[in-house]
Amino acid sequence: MSQAVSYDIEGTVGVITVANPPVNALSLAVRKGLLDAVSAAQDDASEALVIVCSGRTFIAGADITEFGKPPEEPFLPDLLDTIEASKKIIVAAIHGTALGGGLETALSAHYRCALASAQVGLPEVKLGLLPGAGGTQRTPRLAGVQAALDLITSGNPIGAPRALELGLIDKIVDGDLRKEAIAWAHELHEQGAAIRKSSEQPVPAFDAGLFEGYRATLAKRARGQIAPQHIVACVEAATQRSFEDGLKVERELFLECMASTQSAAMRHLFFAERQAAKIDGLPKDTPKRPVESVGIIGGGTMGGGIAMSFANAGIPVTLIEIDDDALARGLSIIDKNYGASVKRGKLAPEQASRCRELITGSTDYASLTGADLIIEAVFEDPALKKATFARLDSACKPGAILATNTSYQDVNEIAAATKRPEDVIGLHFFSPANIMKLLEVVRAEKTADDVLATCMSLAKTIRKVPVMSGVCYGFIGNRMLQPYFREAQLCLIEGATPDQVDNAMEEWGMAMGPIRVADLAGIDVGYKARQALPEDERGDPRASRVPDVLAEMGRLGQKTGAGFYRYDPDTRKHSSDPAVIEIIEREAAAFGIERRDIPDDEIVDRLVYGLVNEGMRIVEEGIAQRPGDIDVVYVYGYGFPVWRGGPMHYADAVGIRRVYERVCEFQDRFGAEAWAPAPLLVQFATEQV
Ligand code: 3HC
Ligand code: NAI
Repeated sequence: MSQAVSYDIEGTVGVITVANPPVNALSLAVRKGLLDAVSAAQDDASEALVIVCSGRTFIAGADITEFGKPPEEPFLPDLLDTIEASKKIIVAAIHGTALGGGLETALSAHYRCALASAQVGLPEVKLGLLPGAGGTQRTPRLAGVQAALDLITSGNPIGAPRALELGLIDKIVDGDLRKEAIAWAHELHEQGAAIRKSSEQPVPAFDAGLFEGYRATLAKRARGQIAPQHIVACVEAATQRSFEDGLKVERELFLECMASTQSAAMRHLFFAERQAAKIDGLPKDTPKRPVESVGIIGGGTMGGGIAMSFANAGIPVTLIEIDDDALARGLSIIDKNYGASVKRGKLAPEQASRCRELITGSTDYASLTGADLIIEAVFEDPALKKATFARLDSACKPGAILATNTSYQDVNEIAAATKRPEDVIGLHFFSPANIMKLLEVVRAEKTADDVLATCMSLAKTIRKVPVMSGVCYGFIGNRMLQPYFREAQLCLIEGATPDQVDNAMEEWGMAMGPIRVADLAGIDVGYKARQALPEDERGDPRASRVPDVLAEMGRLGQKTGAGFYRYDPDTRKHSSDPAVIEIIEREAAAFGIERRDIPDDEIVDRLVYGLVNEGMRIVEEGIAQRPGDIDVVYVYGYGFPVWRGGPMHYADAVGIRRVYERVCEFQDRFGAEAWAPAPLLVQFATEQV
């Protein structure tokens, strides 16, 4: 045995216990321990066996830290063959989350019981992989083809009751799982129950058109990704071939996924997301302030969504607006959003009304006296924000956390408007705030450690992914957008059309092209932001001229039915507009620019390397703690393709030296200042020679 796996005979049942904190991943030691235990148990006095885990969960999957390294025996599929071939009944006893290789281990056992609170799933697709230890072959045999495809292509776990309905588990138990599982194994033995092998079950009948349907849906939903399509091929193989041949297909496609740059990118993000939650120099045991009620100032686009995020986590919210009309408007949008969630089947009606009841409105700051956290989401006007914080200072109780959702303003200056700058922090949500996962937590100069620790941990409570940012114009994400949007606009004026720029970026993997994003966000947003800056800080005039013209024409984007594109009032579908091409050509001529054909790969490189170069500066200045944090921001907040791993990982995958050389080429062609390589980029590129 190994330290990670122990084996004891309790009464007449052999109990194999996995103890590999924190999540009992199937490391080499666990695989060896399981193999030794199952092998030894074949010839001892036990009558049946139980596999159970200690700690917070059943096995949560293969050990992801071992991926990309040379594999060591015993390999998981072989171990699972041994488990299934056991001549004594094996019962898997599940608590916590049986995921990936963990669920595959349970499926190779002959019977499965679980606590009602347990969850099971095959999340490999989220790592650019597919279940590689029989999951694609055993799941359809037990749960049917459609359920298997849903489970494996979504990667989302299901609760024990649903797993019971699907036949993935056999029994839900109460109380002491270990004791119950031992009793059940004994009972099964006494009853002479069969050694029931999942691999020998026939695949239940299914609709033959199912596979093509999934292929088409996934081509859209998981555009550009290899693993989802391979999963369909594996499940299809389960319906057409023997178990052994199906396993061969699974193995071949699993290895292909494992070797892919896509999986490397997604594994990078798995760890980057967890790393981003950690603040260097802030001890894990930093005390946290209790947050049991929240106040939100401003019930507009952001305030309403933020209120829903807290209410959905069971935290009561008081929403403050300037007057009764504005309050009624804000609350009615929240009502509409909850209504839509119910309609789409995302929330049960009673759940939605429970959440909605947690949100109350007021026009009086005195209603905030009890709030533990107050988030300001008023207009993006520095004077208004400062005045609001001065008011909060007197209205809120001592120790309350005062947060701003500003997109660009200096959080140090906002904090200075109070007598308690240590309680002030930035909490930058993304729109729509009840849906988008990213939360930039902006640490100002005087933000207290416990305020920061509280907000990082609170983000998890409201199911957001937190990334800490220092204070600068636009923080991490919006600051990097500046060169990205600049290059998009320059490509337009130099010769591309809005469609070409957007299609090039969407083909490359962005969820939405930059010009369509500008139309969605509103062209007036950037216009107003530029107007608020002194003229010499407004950036390259060639990049802002066309959007300025459109804004002044009242073509503000989707909300006015026209911006860079025209929008169908009913379907919101965009179409290109010759009038915009004329404007672009006219403005190009005014700047003396001779328009040319721009290749798609130049568009992609200019936009993406614009992000990378600025990202390097952000890391160097300490605004982001590490490059991986930037990747998390871009994937969760800006529609960057997860399978490219974020801009910084992508640069690494391309090769920093190559990125640097392309940036130098752009510097020669397009402008010394805008394309000056960041010092860190130069350093990394030099180190790579
Ligand atoms: N391998 C290695 N480390 C893992 C791991 C895994 N499978 N799963 C989690 N960890 C580590 C995390 O990196 C983290 O480490 P840290 O504390 O040093 O940052 C620690 O365990 C705790 O993880 P979380 O912070 O995520 O803890 P939570 O309680 O929030 O979530 C969980 C627990 C739901 C199990 C979540 O960690 C998770 O989803 N893990 C990944 C599960 C997964 O993808 N399994 C499939 C792996 S691929 C596979 O099995 C291939 C097979 O088919 C052959
Ligand atoms: P919005 O214009 O939709 O809403 C602002 C609301 O604040 C309005 O309903 C207004 O009545 C209310 N308000 C104004 N002054 C007030 C006061 N003194 N007291 C109480 N309420 C007051 O604006 P939006 O888009 O919600 O933006 C709010 C903040 O969030 C801004 O700082 C913005 O930069 C930031 N933000 C916006 C994002 C977006 O995509 N819209 C994304 C991330 C941050």
